[in-house]
Amino acid sequence: MTAQPALAHPAAATGQCPVARGGSAENGAASAHHGYAPFAMTDPFPSYAALRENEPVMFDEEIGYFVVSRYDDVKATFDNWQVFSSENAQAPVRARGAAATTIMNDGGFTAYSGLSARIPPEHTRMRAIVQKEFTPRRYKKLEPTIRENTARLLQQMLAHPSERGDFLKDVAVDIPTITILGLLGVGPEMVSTYKKWSDSRAAMTWGDLSDDEQIPHAHNLVDYWTECLRLVSNAHEQLDKNENGDNLVFDLVQAQSIGSEISDHEIASVCYSLLFAGHETTTTLISNTIRELLAHPAEWQKLLEDPSRIPAAIDETLRFSPSIVGWRRKALVDTEIGGVAIPAGSNILLLMGSANRDGDTFEQPETFDINRVNARNHLSFGFGIHYCLGNMLAKMQDKIVVEETLKAAPGLRLIDAEKIVFGDNLSFRAPTAVPVTWGDQK
Ligand code: HEM
Repeated sequence: MTAQPALAHPAAATGQCPVARGGSAENGAASAHHGYAPFAMTDPFPSYAALRENEPVMFDEEIGYFVVSRYDDVKATFDNWQVFSSENAQAPVRARGAAATTIMNDGGFTAYSGLSARIPPEHTRMRAIVQKEFTPRRYKKLEPTIRENTARLLQQMLAHPSERGDFLKDVAVDIPTITILGLLGVGPEMVSTYKKWSDSRAAMTWGDLSDDEQIPHAHNLVDYWTECLRLVSNAHEQLDKNENGDNLVFDLVQAQSIGSEISDHEIASVCYSLLFAGHETTTTLISNTIRELLAHPAEWQKLLEDPSRIPAAIDETLRFSPSIVGWRRKALVDTEIGGVAIPAGSNILLLMGSANRDGDTFEQPETFDINRVNARNHLSFGFGIHYCLGNMLAKMQDKIVVEETLKAAPGLRLIDAEKIVFGDNLSFRAPTAVPVTWGDQK
């Protein structure tokens, strides 16, 4: 299960593909398709609107993907797993160099996707076991720690004499990272180590690395995978000694011991995936919720007056400014999407960031409106059998952060909102900073 498919487009293999280069409208040629530039994340929305209007399903030569932009087509493709497989969802966009491959082979690196790139029946079996661990009871236990962490980080930020901060780095980064480590039975002192490994994972999957640049990341991935294997063997030791591990890894090992069909390698792969999926996107959600609310002061004011509207504001943020704007699928047979022929083997990019602004589903889609009645119909957590397992945990953390921020800093404001940029990426749309102030001067 170690092999991960490479991009079909020949440009990817030569390293000329902007997926590998982190290219954008600024540093690479914009696509001929109505200004659509697959990696330019700062403001992709005008090009999404043009695609929906003119070419809702098109083949983008620059990346070698069919790009799907209308809500109904995106949702139907997510839903049809028999025809559209997720097996390419975690594929590295840049082939691994010889040195990195040797390091990873010698280091015993055999990690594979926990769930998102697995397909039925394997996916069905594993998801049934893993999702039993994502319970409201487990979340409830995490809540006090998340609230304490949030209050502490906010206090630290607000104590800064400059009366300025970066909400992303000062608050949003640490909270989900500490949470996911806690879920897996790891202490907060390991945050920076795990962050480093996660960055290496992102770079090796999505980044533009020469063969030499891959080398340190290859070492990190070996360490990261070795740690996942250690977490599993540690849980076995605890079980043998009749100790209660009280974390997700321990519970999966315990489930295995009483007959659940999940191997140690699969449990370690689940850890490998959760350690990335469990914080990166939530950090972005927290940053985007605060950023959008502060960019729309009337909506911030509504929450100050009525905090019970916070969940609705989070749904609207997920619709309007999703952490993941595009996710991948592969056609298993000759088929069609929206009347466009899709040959077997084609790679497909589903633009949830565009689907969420489709005027046929959402009225006045370009308006950020926390009173929107159907914001929850967004596709930001996917749809169908792979629907995000951590969605409730992500929303709970975001809710706590918004609640605590409204209390601690009701006068918070964005600084230079128009200068906020988002890193180049095919799938993840994350701001690079969210500068804020709570002082009198701008
Ligand atoms: C704002 C935060 C998050 C966003 C936007 C997000 C988004 C997504 C998306 C788009 C998928 C793929 C869905 C598909 O292929 O149909 C996914 C899958 C998944 N997510 Fe999340 N996610 C978030 C947070 C989390 C958290 C906090 C966790 C865990 C603690 C998590 C765990 C997973 C897992 C395990 C899967 C794979 C499910 C499967 O294939 O059956 N996610 N997520």
